[in-house]
Amino acid sequence: MIPLKNKSLYKTQCYVNGEWRNSNSGDRINVYNPYSKELVGTVPDMGAAECKEAIESAHAAFQTWKDYSAGERSQILRKWFELQMENIDDLANILTIEQGKPLAEAKGEIRYGASFVEWFAEEAKRVYGDVIPGHGRDKRITVIKQPIGVVAAITPWNFPNAMITRKVAPALAAGCTVVIKPSELTPLSALALAELAEQAGFPKGVLNIITTDDAPSVGQAMTSHSKVKKVSFTGSTKVGKILLKQCADSVKKVSMELGGNAPFIVFDDADIDAAVEGAIASKFRNAGQTCVCSNRIFAQEGIYEEFVNKLAIAVKDLQLGDGLKEGINIGPLIEPKALSFVEKVVDNARTNGATILTGGKVSKVNDLIYEPTIVTNATTDMMVFREEIFGPVAPVFKFKTESEVIEMANDTPYGLASYFYGRDYARIWRVSEGLEYGMVGINTGMISTTVAPFGGIKESGFGREGSKYGIEDFVNIKYMCWGGVE
Ligand code: SIN
Repeated sequence: MIPLKNKSLYKTQCYVNGEWRNSNSGDRINVYNPYSKELVGTVPDMGAAECKEAIESAHAAFQTWKDYSAGERSQILRKWFELQMENIDDLANILTIEQGKPLAEAKGEIRYGASFVEWFAEEAKRVYGDVIPGHGRDKRITVIKQPIGVVAAITPWNFPNAMITRKVAPALAAGCTVVIKPSELTPLSALALAELAEQAGFPKGVLNIITTDDAPSVGQAMTSHSKVKKVSFTGSTKVGKILLKQCADSVKKVSMELGGNAPFIVFDDADIDAAVEGAIASKFRNAGQTCVCSNRIFAQEGIYEEFVNKLAIAVKDLQLGDGLKEGINIGPLIEPKALSFVEKVVDNARTNGATILTGGKVSKVNDLIYEPTIVTNATTDMMVFREEIFGPVAPVFKFKTESEVIEMANDTPYGLASYFYGRDYARIWRVSEGLEYGMVGINTGMISTTVAPFGGIKESGFGREGSKYGIEDFVNIKYMCWGGVE
């Protein structure tokens, strides 16, 4: 049990067609606190059969939800937003306890997550169509946008709250209905959101959540069901490719927010202190477990030593421990498998001749906390350059010229976030245009916000979440050609 002011937020059943339910088999999934390893709850282990029921419910609910006026949908979304903000402390507690990130970051995530609901409550009213000059004297053309139908949302453990609201809020605002499959590692945050959705007054079947330990079967049920019209996924590129192939059979609309390998470039003319601050924020957020975390840091030769020394000092200030305690910056990694991968990446660098400047081992504080690590003298054939590390490890590479660093930065199949620090305005334009990424942070390490289009290119996926573009993925464009207008 998790200590909460509002006990109704501790849900251990799934939400399907407006009812709280267990799985058909009665099987359950254990949910653990990654820091203390305590069992903090159990949730139903549902399968393809329950997933199909949820899709049928969402399909039935769609027949009426799509006809609600934008204003009516907006009001319910607004209420959902307000309830999230009223319950921010409890939602953040649940999040830290099942995910491990520090409480201050968890609160930041709840605010960030709720901001999508607030934003799309407004955008619901702005799904404008168009009038196009006709192609003949008697012709008129109008364009309307209609909700696409049932949306399947598959969300990850690193942002158990915000990755749900970022998909679900625009879907519901557009008039779609949803079936959500959260990560089995962090289902309690998702179920708490469903409780608040129920309190906000969404009609039954509009929002459904199923939890499962069998992601492949449920994923298959979602991607193969003819009534699912759109699949929105955040997670690894490997799983994204599987889902994409499955969606091809019924030609579903898809959004894929996949892996990243973000470059973080510091030019000679940069404000070094600001660059260090930005690198700490972007590298060590959520212990390095975000798709937009800077993965490879590049410092120009003139400021390399100064930057690395200052970064090392800043890294030593990071406090490691239980996310529930005040002042903690780095919590545990999500599970032993994640920690083993980080160890493998650092060992690969070490054995191939890189220097481990700080960290490089599991912390004494907790067996799932990896010490913040700086790696120097690494080369481009090492795992620290090629792989998405998803942990608190910062390799710093030295470069000479702008063209060299752009080539290195783009030398990856990924294209999600990128960052650079410098002051020359012409170079800022050249580098921004030269980076093959969906997002570029210029003199900032924090780019995530509701008001901007989040998303990648190349093998980091496609589709945009947030901003005025975010709702477009959930509508079909239809044009009406009017003849005989004499
Ligand atoms: C992610 O890691 O997938 C999302 C990060 C963010 O929205 O900032």
